[in-house]
Amino acid sequence: MCGIVAAVAQRDVAPLLIAGLKALEYRGYDSAGIAVLDHGDVHRVRAKGKVREMESLYLANPFPGGTGIAHTRWATHGVPNEANAHPHTAGNVALVHNGIIENYASLRAELQAGGHVFTSETDTEVMAALISERVESGMSLREAVTATVRGLEGAYAIAVVSSKEPGHVVGARHGAPLLVGVGIGEHFLGSDAQALIQVTNKIIYLEEHDVVEITRDHVQIYGRDGKPVERAVHESELSTDAVERGEYRHYMQKEIFEQPRAVADTLEARIGPNGVLPNIFGVGGDELLAKVKGLHIIACGTSYHAGLVAKYWIEEYARLPVNVEVASEYRYREAVVPEGTLFVAISQSGETADTLAAMRESRRRGYLGTLAICNVPESSVVREADLKLMTRAGPEIGVASTKAFTTQLAALGLLTLQLAHQRGLDGERHADLASQLQRMPSMIEKALELEPQIIELAEHLIHRQHALFLGRGVQYPVAMEGALKLKEISYIHAEAYAAGELKHGPLALVDEDMPVIAVAPNGPLLDKLKSNLQEVRARGGELLVFADGEASMDGNASRGAILRMDGGGEFIAPAVFTVPMQLLAYHVAVLRGTDVDQPRNLAKSVTVE
Ligand code: F6R
Repeated sequence: MCGIVAAVAQRDVAPLLIAGLKALEYRGYDSAGIAVLDHGDVHRVRAKGKVREMESLYLANPFPGGTGIAHTRWATHGVPNEANAHPHTAGNVALVHNGIIENYASLRAELQAGGHVFTSETDTEVMAALISERVESGMSLREAVTATVRGLEGAYAIAVVSSKEPGHVVGARHGAPLLVGVGIGEHFLGSDAQALIQVTNKIIYLEEHDVVEITRDHVQIYGRDGKPVERAVHESELSTDAVERGEYRHYMQKEIFEQPRAVADTLEARIGPNGVLPNIFGVGGDELLAKVKGLHIIACGTSYHAGLVAKYWIEEYARLPVNVEVASEYRYREAVVPEGTLFVAISQSGETADTLAAMRESRRRGYLGTLAICNVPESSVVREADLKLMTRAGPEIGVASTKAFTTQLAALGLLTLQLAHQRGLDGERHADLASQLQRMPSMIEKALELEPQIIELAEHLIHRQHALFLGRGVQYPVAMEGALKLKEISYIHAEAYAAGELKHGPLALVDEDMPVIAVAPNGPLLDKLKSNLQEVRARGGELLVFADGEASMDGNASRGAILRMDGGGEFIAPAVFTVPMQLLAYHVAVLRGTDVDQPRNLAKSVTVE
């Protein structure tokens, strides 16, 4: 998704801005640009494609200047091309923007009626025009930005410079993150801490409706009412090492292999021999959880799949009703909220626009409380939740989520255990679940050893156009996650079905060209699943079966293959069986030569609706 970097310094800022944009590349984008003020001139360079393409244009014709703004754009209004790339300029102003302005069409029409000529199809350019007009009429840049954002509907994080005020950058946020990097004699703005970590680890997270003005020596923030406010300075724990790719070919591969460590970190000091330790969800968390009579879990994409696994777990072990819904649906419908319901938001980034909006919407729907399961401590979702349980996956750079998912399952495993224990789960069963959860890192480690065999399996899929994924019970969401991984990075059309649904429609698709990937761990539903696989086999479909231990698969893969592994127990098997799904998608994508870490059309943190 779009990224912002801005700087005011004594040194030339263009190289800093470009380095910041490179650190944001993982978010996904399709064009990039920078604008720098130099003695009343605005130098600007923009290009479609990667930051390095824009950088070569800059290097061919470099410019000095200590005040600048920069952007990576993920197209929403208007195709990805140079004209639509940010920064946008109008009169004395250059501006970069993340988010979507919903009332831009009427603003644009008004400006056009007044004679303004637009050079792009974007919603952003109207802001540059409005701010420039106001500066021309005598307002300071900050006053002009403040007046302009008051008339906007939608979501924005912006950084603006004016040739009339060299040495100043003004930023504002509403519905999209923006933070300040505090340096010594230089200050920065960024859309996430990753963009700034090369220049400072001192970060101020802006609140909704804040406007900020930075100069070399000062940072001044203004709250919703326009009055100066103080915001705390945080020391970011990010390091530049965390985003190195090391010996791995792609970030996604590195992140798949980091899972044993990431899951162990997520469980560390949170679970002991007698179960979940006190108040890991925050002060008063255990008391609140004891009152819960049901849960609504809201998330998007991969995080939604984690929520679906938790539904099976919590309903089985804690006997509490759970609804799981994608945030984009939930936020616009009148969900019924029974008394005593806990709202749970799951989000790797904590900035996903739909999830955040759903959480805000939940405030007026009478929930018992809100719990965030998230990977970014300073994110909006975490800051706005009553209770929080951080996943400790570390930065996830690959656009396709991997370690974020398994750490979410570890966190949801802790939540399940706590809810179940409070509701009197039998002691022996509780101890078994706790010990399975503690084994999750080592079982994932073992599953990673399957990589060589999975590379061979990947060959079966590289020339296919479609694939079906099947699972039953708690493994159905794992099949959904497998299908999502395959489609997003290899561009093979993949769908997941609850295996029992096959004969109600999708079986019509099965022939010798349709590979069927089945997740088949031991458990009460294994025999049922085997019958479903016979239905595929009888129609000549090619089966790739991931099976637990030596469980007989009755020659189910006479065309295709059976890969045997150890799920580590019924409770944690969804996390363990996810690993071969990730590796399969990864290796198919590598063999097909796609851009694994930045698949086409996708963005990492989806901060627009
Ligand atoms: C898929 C993927 C996305 C995200 C989704 C939610 O691999 O990464 O489906 O899971 O955009 O993002 P978060 O978890 O940041 O809210």
